[in-house]
Amino acid sequence: MTIKKAIFPVGGLGTRFLPATKAMPKEMLPVVDKPLIQYAVEEAAAAGIEQFIFVTGRNKTAIEDHFDHSTELEAVLIEKDKADALEVVRRMLREPGSVSYVRQQEPAGLGHAVWCARHLIGTEPVAVLLADDLILGAPAMAEMTAAYTGGNMVALMDVPASDTGAYGIITPGSKQGNLTEIIGIVEKPAPDKAPSDKAVVGRYILEPKIFEELGKGRRGAGGEIQLTDALAARIGHTPFHGLNFSGERFDCGSKIGFLKANIAFGLAHDELQGELSQWLPTRL
Ligand code: G1P
Repeated sequence: MTIKKAIFPVGGLGTRFLPATKAMPKEMLPVVDKPLIQYAVEEAAAAGIEQFIFVTGRNKTAIEDHFDHSTELEAVLIEKDKADALEVVRRMLREPGSVSYVRQQEPAGLGHAVWCARHLIGTEPVAVLLADDLILGAPAMAEMTAAYTGGNMVALMDVPASDTGAYGIITPGSKQGNLTEIIGIVEKPAPDKAPSDKAVVGRYILEPKIFEELGKGRRGAGGEIQLTDALAARIGHTPFHGLNFSGERFDCGSKIGFLKANIAFGLAHDELQGELSQWLPTRL
């Protein structure tokens, strides 16, 4: 099914990356040469998304500037005859009017961030992409939209039992190919309370009814309004599936995941792979 709109929650403080994120949004941290948020936007565009809604917070203007023309830069690149660089900065721009920003006025959780975009969403399902979850290989959102037939959907991956406390964890029902029916979901359970080792990666397709649920403002794990809880409340009312995507996910919300992503994307980069793969073993 075609999904036209995507929400990108980018209001987080990025405290785990201080001081790098003191004056710069964490979503602007680059993996090789591209900021995390641009990977997420490109993944959404590859899935046919046409409208891009950023839920921002304080100190996030660099994201708005990133997805806009930089007239001075473009003028200098033209003057210096740097056609390739000019193409890079122009190609990434979306169609005029297709990017919107809403401010999340308080850091009240992922569910709250998504809810803040409600007035920009009509009666059609909407995608949500978390830029922290970076996927190498086949774009996960395109796999999801291809498989989506209605209701709610999340991307799934298996995690070590010790890591359940960092994720939304599902109770799986029946399985068909790469799709798993979800009959329960809980936010960040301790390993001894986790219903499985199947974790939600930050890719969602949501039916608009979720906004009513989020609007109830119920606080969950960490005292925050959790998207996971709203999804749980919709079980039994609407279909709910998880998709095992084929790409490789990097947790760029953690330093180690971010470093691994830079190495993996570097090794997959035409210009870098030769030298990087020769140099890496010399450090071990
Ligand atoms: C969020 C969600 C969680 C999900 C995770 C994926 O948590 O609340 O359910 O598993 O993203 O990255 P966060 O990482 O923002 O704490």
